[in-house]
Amino acid sequence: MSNISILGLGTYARAIGTRAVEAGHAVEVIGRDAANTQDLAAALGSGATAGIFGIPPAGDIVVLAVPYASAVPVVVQYGDALAGKVIVDISNTFTAADDTELVTPDGSSGAQEIAKVVPPSAHVVKAFNTVFAHVLALGRSLDVLFAGDDAQAKASVSAFIESLGLRPLDVGSLDMAHWLEGAGLLMMGLARHGAGFNIALGVDLLG
Ligand SMILES: NC(=O)c1ccc[n+]([C@@H]2O[C@H](COP(=O)([O-])OP(=O)(O)OC[C@H]3O[C@@H](n4cnc5c(N)ncnc54)[C@H](OP(=O)(O)O)[C@@H]3O)[C@@H](O)[C@H]2O)c1
Repeated sequence: MSNISILGLGTYARAIGTRAVEAGHAVEVIGRDAANTQDLAAALGSGATAGIFGIPPAGDIVVLAVPYASAVPVVVQYGDALAGKVIVDISNTFTAADDTELVTPDGSSGAQEIAKVVPPSAHVVKAFNTVFAHVLALGRSLDVLFAGDDAQAKASVSAFIESLGLRPLDVGSLDMAHWLEGAGLLMMGLARHGAGFNIALGVDLLG
């Protein structure tokens, strides 16, 4: 069992929080509205707790489940409260208005922009952005591609993914987050051009 904090109270927070409590993790949810935070913790059940926005999260792993536009400001606001944490960036870096373009600077990615503002002792791992929340909520086994620079942080995120009944697939260093975010666009293109949204990106490992 691990201590997991989830920052954000939306669709993804609920989906990943549900799977995390089912897997037996100690889950803390954190939102900017205290009553909504309590509501989500109660809905998750299994001892899930409501954290207070801005104070150090209880979890060793902190899932950043806010829109990319809020991710860097939220991490800056937290500052040293995130020291030593493994930060899981699940964001897709397109806007609701346009899901054909990434909003990040050329040659970078959301995860790398977040990594620039976390405390030096924290590590960012990109994961889950290629998995739709409603698909995660189905409870099925899925592939979760992830990327990061710190081997220990990646190992702990990989173990977390596996504990949820999902298959972790390492795509390399944090530079690769750009391509994972590109895969987010690919998923939207697929969904909008015939496949629909009940899809999951997977890899066939041919033995
Ligand atoms: N939904 C999916 O299928 C999917 C798939 C892959 C990746 N993702 C990624 O997952 C992340 C969350 O998406 P979602 O679908 O869960 O979005 P959502 O349902 O809109 O929820 C977003 C949450 O972020 C919170 N938030 C926004 N700005 C904040 C701020 N400045 N400070 C504190 N909290 C803030 C919102 O708080 P309030 O409730 O107070 O407004 C809300 O609880 C996004 O980065 C998205 O790209 C989503």
